[in-house]
Amino acid sequence: MRHILSAQQYKVEDLNRLFIQADKLRSVRSLPDHHGKIVATLFFEPSTRTRLSFESAALRLGAGVIGTENGAEFSSSVKGETIEDTVKVVANYADVIVIRHPLTGTADRAAKLNCVPIINAGDGAAGEHPTQALLDLYTMQHELANFEKSVVVFAGDLKHYRATRSLATLLSLYPNIRLRFVSPKDLRMDTAVTKLLSERGVEYEETTELQDALPGADVAYVTRIPKEYFPSIKEYEKYKGVYKFTDQTLRLLKPESLIMHPLPRVDEIDSSIDDDPRAAYFRQVGNGLYIRMALLDEILSGREK
Ligand code: NCD
Repeated sequence: MRHILSAQQYKVEDLNRLFIQADKLRSVRSLPDHHGKIVATLFFEPSTRTRLSFESAALRLGAGVIGTENGAEFSSSVKGETIEDTVKVVANYADVIVIRHPLTGTADRAAKLNCVPIINAGDGAAGEHPTQALLDLYTMQHELANFEKSVVVFAGDLKHYRATRSLATLLSLYPNIRLRFVSPKDLRMDTAVTKLLSERGVEYEETTELQDALPGADVAYVTRIPKEYFPSIKEYEKYKGVYKFTDQTLRLLKPESLIMHPLPRVDEIDSSIDDDPRAAYFRQVGNGLYIRMALLDEILSGREK
């Protein structure tokens, strides 16, 4: 059974195949027809883009959508139902389940049941967000002239951030890419990821200063400081606003570079730079739809790897 659980499951050829399909879905008029299929979205954490883009992707492919608006509040989980029971039940109603949960490892637990394909749409602070990473990588490949040799800066809270963990994992497949991680000392990138980069021969550097990392960068990937994952407000406030992208920051970047963010943003990117052609975050959102259509199409067509 084909689940999407982690960026680690991908090889370059899988990515190429997926991106070709996303390109086709972007351009063709007649879409694959998955009428009669049903996609369930079980979201136990807030989400706008991820849930709505999966639902829109399913509807554009002719499939139906069911889901809990806010799984945490309105589903049987509030009554104490385990994720295993919820998945076993929903598998009777749907052909694929897209799941987001605050507990790392939930998507893996759901996949172990082997009822229907599971898509991990974000699992906790220490987990992954593979479909976000896929759309981010797709965006970079689309927009950068020399993607395979690019310098990618990640800036923000890299410890509690599943999107950057998954994206750095995908980027480790391209040995000539160079990564620069910018974070406060206590919010550094996971050592499991840096170990993987070293094993695969991908160069990376770590710093606490944005101005050290931005000159010469092709991508500045900015993250939110995720308040919900800090043990206290006091702890969060230590880091709130630590890196801010303003008109001044932009001057450190090359004219053809990209500023990316999975969104939502809080205060880390000033809206005054949204109209700069380098600001790619809303284009990322658009690409997310095609990537999620391609992923659902692959799963609903039963095209196994
Ligand atoms: C991310 C997430 O939920 O992990 N958002 C998203 O899916 N676009 C990033 C975030 O919440 O900051």
